[in-house]
Amino acid sequence: EETGKGRFEHYMLKEIYAQPEALRGTLSGRIDDGTVTLESFPEGTFEDVDQVHLVACGTSYHAALCAERQLVRAGIPASTTRASEYFDLQTVDERTLVVAVTQSGETADTLSALRRAAAAGGRTLAVTNVVGSTVSREADDVLYIRAGPEIGVAATKTFTSQVATLAMLTHRIAQGAERGTPREDAAAFFRELARLPDRIDELLAATAAETVSRQHIGRQSYFFIGRDFEYSVALEGALKFKEITYEHAEGFASGELKHGPLALVTEDATLFALLTGARGDETRKNAEEAKTRGATVVAVAPEGMEVGEVADEILRVPDTHPDLAGLLANVQLQLISYHTAYGLGREIDKPRNLAKSVTVE
Ligand code: G6P
Repeated sequence: EETGKGRFEHYMLKEIYAQPEALRGTLSGRIDDGTVTLESFPEGTFEDVDQVHLVACGTSYHAALCAERQLVRAGIPASTTRASEYFDLQTVDERTLVVAVTQSGETADTLSALRRAAAAGGRTLAVTNVVGSTVSREADDVLYIRAGPEIGVAATKTFTSQVATLAMLTHRIAQGAERGTPREDAAAFFRELARLPDRIDELLAATAAETVSRQHIGRQSYFFIGRDFEYSVALEGALKFKEITYEHAEGFASGELKHGPLALVTEDATLFALLTGARGDETRKNAEEAKTRGATVVAVAPEGMEVGEVADEILRVPDTHPDLAGLLANVQLQLISYHTAYGLGREIDKPRNLAKSVTVE
């Protein structure tokens, strides 16, 4: 059953629904009552890490952006670069941990970034799904996300597993590195992470994404806004949407709407506003700016939140730790993309012009 579509019409939908199971695989044996164990990293592994560079492409880049925020909050200087743009390596040395995030482990742009990092004297680590992939053989160390095979070209379950894996990695680096300070609420955070597969199950059982997506087919543009982790999710939501629906979609930092993108907002636009996370209230205000200009607003919001008049429709996500709620919001957006593409009759598992793994630069 692992490689067939089972009861699903597309691999993408199967993989969206496989997220609880994939995430259980990712977390299995690694979290115990709020403490994190990563098999390949004994005590002392990260002692001399001064900074972290994350390099990745596509969906993996969005997962890396989430990790960058967590690292910086833990006191570790970190930056994320699109692998094809990673060529200013002046600050790379043996105390720089260069993390290549790649589902397939075969993306040419990411492999060359990793090779440039190694040549510059950096220490390399691969975060990948595929055992024995090129990246796993070339990097100094490897950490597997253990999400199981992903067949649909549009990455879904591997994003969730990447973000979770990188959260555990961040914690280990913050504990190990001289300058790191692990998050104060680590026990609560990791307890909620361990429960996240159940929350995704709850969400999947109750989602209104199919009905909502039907109301919005044929709009001129689709915008996705969020702040903090939800900004990365907005970028990921828009990427997924354009990949499989072929409709015009853009992700923005909520606060940036007024610095340009608002000029694009008309009555023919649908705006997905991510109101989950620590800064959801601020995004709600930004969504109002778009609503005033005529956009239809779909809010993705936690169970208990009073959303008010700004939203024409609401997709709810179960309550969890604010830093994890974006992953739940992302599942709603995956479903929105899927059902919209389905409604438009697109070739969901093999979108035009795209490949699962791009092995040319
Ligand atoms: C291709 C795929 C994307 C993927 C990207 C990076 O462009 O179509 O879905 O996110 O490659 O792939 P990787 O295997 O490196 O994560």
